[in-house]
Amino acid sequence: MSYDNVYPFVYLAWLAGAACFVLGLHYMNSPATARNGNRLSAAGMTLAVGATAVLLLVQGIDGLAWAVIVIGFLIGGAAGLATARTVPMTAMPQLVSVFNAVGGGAAALVAIDDFLAHGEGGGASVSTTLFVVLGVVIGSVTFSGSLIASGKLQGVISGKPIIFPGSRILTIVLGLVALFGTFGLVFSATGTVVLDPLVADVVLLAIIGAALVFGVTMVLPIGGADMPVVISLLNAFTGTAAAMAGFVLDNPVLIISGALVGASGGILTKLMADAMNRSIMNIMVGGFGGGDHATAAAGGAAAGTVRAIGADDAAIQLAYAQLVIIVPGYGLAVAQAQHACRELGELLEERGVTVEYAIHPVAGRMPGHMNVLLAEANVPYPMLKEMEEVNPDFDRADVVLVVGANDVTNPAARRPGNPVSGMPILDVDHAKSIIVIKRSMGRGYAGIDNELYANPKTGMLFADAKDGLAQLTSAVKAL
Ligand code: TAP
Repeated sequence: MSYDNVYPFVYLAWLAGAACFVLGLHYMNSPATARNGNRLSAAGMTLAVGATAVLLLVQGIDGLAWAVIVIGFLIGGAAGLATARTVPMTAMPQLVSVFNAVGGGAAALVAIDDFLAHGEGGGASVSTTLFVVLGVVIGSVTFSGSLIASGKLQGVISGKPIIFPGSRILTIVLGLVALFGTFGLVFSATGTVVLDPLVADVVLLAIIGAALVFGVTMVLPIGGADMPVVISLLNAFTGTAAAMAGFVLDNPVLIISGALVGASGGILTKLMADAMNRSIMNIMVGGFGGGDHATAAAGGAAAGTVRAIGADDAAIQLAYAQLVIIVPGYGLAVAQAQHACRELGELLEERGVTVEYAIHPVAGRMPGHMNVLLAEANVPYPMLKEMEEVNPDFDRADVVLVVGANDVTNPAARRPGNPVSGMPILDVDHAKSIIVIKRSMGRGYAGIDNELYANPKTGMLFADAKDGLAQLTSAVKAL
């Protein structure tokens, strides 16, 4: 079969793969259909890769190229499978960041290869040169920036903002090198500037070097606690770099999937920043209000008296309530207490109590963190209520059970002048009674005291989330 006969079918298969990505993303709208969305997207990717393999077969690439493809596929596939299966949920953000690095690096390599293949210094069209150079810049920034971000989250690099003298000037200089280098190569493609191939190679190398160092200097000043937002932004960069590679290779599946990742990553970044009441610019220029270095007290809990309660008292309140709202947070994830949480919820429901789960958009440390954990424990989706939906319910809740959540319940957010000011919160303090399970008076991510703990309606059950929930379950059973 000739290449010309096969290519239209391969192109159609690519388009079908891209349609699977779009539909798959649509299915991610609801936790009930999200797994099928994932499967559909994976099927689309298999179709796209399979079609490309057929095209290569018809093209007749040599044995060495096949060996590289097959070995790369096996090593990459095995590493991806092993890490995805073994990584704990709490380490998911750094894994995503490593995947971003790989994606960005691959897009940059594709672009470099294309630059060299088209002949340096004006061999390619203006648009190709532009996409190639943008792919190199965005891919390289994503590669190094994502590695630093995952190192910070993993604790390999200090999570504190790292700012050295002249770092901002260096970042600006690196940006200018990349910008002028890009102009130089694009103008050489238009014929306005004539560049010797060797000079063009040196310019490309300078752009790559500047972009790689730019990724490092961009992420180093950002505190570890803001990393999930940065990772989401770098994820958007990866998609954009892949889309650029798609233009270069004239591959629709790469353009569409890259654009989808770029757009959804950008939207997610904006949503996360909004839910923390921060601008993306505020996060990117460093020196954040919240995060690792924030120590200012909101002036609440420390000033009031905190009341500790035992599991038996708490169990009586829960067992005889009509409506109980459970608020899961980062501590629930750390303690892996999702199953214990579901068990208590089920027990209360069996006793005729209505149970709801209040999900704050930035509870935990990654988007959808609580949804994923509770879904894993088979908590029925209709019981999970998003913030806007559940906030009116707190007024009629008899008991709110806060499990390892802190900042997302802090009424200090309603006042100006502290690191969580303006962050939308769950109106937990509107309930008739509040029970908080956490180990100590330790602060949350924003590093400030929580006024909720000094509220006379609040009882603190000091325990690890899993143990505390188990104590409550046995105490309710004993009633
Ligand atoms: P946090 O405010 O971080 O508080 C978590 C609380 O869990 C801590 O106060 C800690 O208190 C407790 N805890 C830790 N381990 C525990 C365990 N084993 N058992 C029981 N409790 C435990 O959590 P949150 O309310 O979920 O808020 C999330 C924060 O992260 C927000 O400030 C948000 O802006 C930020 N953030 C979120 C995201 C996303 S996308 N979700 C991204 C970036 C930043 P003790 O030490 O006293 O136990």
